[in-house]
Amino acid sequence: MAQLKEHRHPAGEGLTTTEAPFIEEAKSNGQLYIEQPYELYSEQNHQAWRDLYHRMVPLWDQYANDQFKQGISALCLDPNQVPRLSDVNKFLAPLTGFSAKAVSGYVPAFLFFDCIRQREFPTTITIRRYDKLDYLPEPDIFHDIAGHVPMHTDKRFADTLVRFGEVARTAAEIVQEIKGKREQTETLTSIMKAMARFFWFTIEFGLMKGKDGGVRAYGSGLLSSFGELQYSCTSPKAQRYPLQMEWVINQYFEIYHYQPLYFVAEDFEHVFEQVDLLEKWLKEGKLSNVQPGEPAINRHDLKSFLNASI
Ligand SMILES: [Fe+2]
Repeated sequence: MAQLKEHRHPAGEGLTTTEAPFIEEAKSNGQLYIEQPYELYSEQNHQAWRDLYHRMVPLWDQYANDQFKQGISALCLDPNQVPRLSDVNKFLAPLTGFSAKAVSGYVPAFLFFDCIRQREFPTTITIRRYDKLDYLPEPDIFHDIAGHVPMHTDKRFADTLVRFGEVARTAAEIVQEIKGKREQTETLTSIMKAMARFFWFTIEFGLMKGKDGGVRAYGSGLLSSFGELQYSCTSPKAQRYPLQMEWVINQYFEIYHYQPLYFVAEDFEHVFEQVDLLEKWLKEGKLSNVQPGEPAINRHDLKSFLNASI
């Protein structure tokens, strides 16, 4: 006789961002890496995915770079249901070795970078409220799976992420050598600002030259944003300048409004080369005293680098 499996959470109670008991419980138990309890998604969660996905399709057609569009079709995402990470990984892993790995929430900086170095992408499994699609208090599965993961199907982009993870290891090695607590903290804070700014202006909000002379988005924050995707590519209010390290690492950013400034890469080779340059500058000490300001670096992020075993 088949045994009934006991579920501690009733089906359909929902995995809504900031409102999911399953996530709260995992966090209070100190569990960062979790399963995706698929049966917990409510009909409203699927509705949110459906509405988010369908309204992005025409925008992706016009403003997403070609690799992203190829990635969306390679992953065979279901436009009508929140995806199962195991299904996504079936298509993703053979292409670049990357996989989406479910997490309960915020991943301290070094752990995040070290995960991507190992081709595992920390992935949020909750989804925003279906009745507030444009309100996103924290990243959700739509941002992570529909915004980030399609880019991970591209070999050069995937290599760039891995390279970024290697830079984080180099940074941890360098700061762990510094004698003197105060100098160590100040240097690490600066290096982390520089890395976060580079990640923000490329992986999250990067634009790239298109074949027609215009620009296309490859940054995941743009590719998952109904309002900002078109704005970033076409609005005369947005500033668009060639990607350049000197500026990027010293430019602070704020997250709660459309960006006033975007950096345009030539191609994916260009982005990859810039990560090499980031590491070169790191080793030369050029990231050790960048312009202060956002983003704030919290103590969990600092500790993650200082306690990293490398
Ligand atoms: Fe993101």
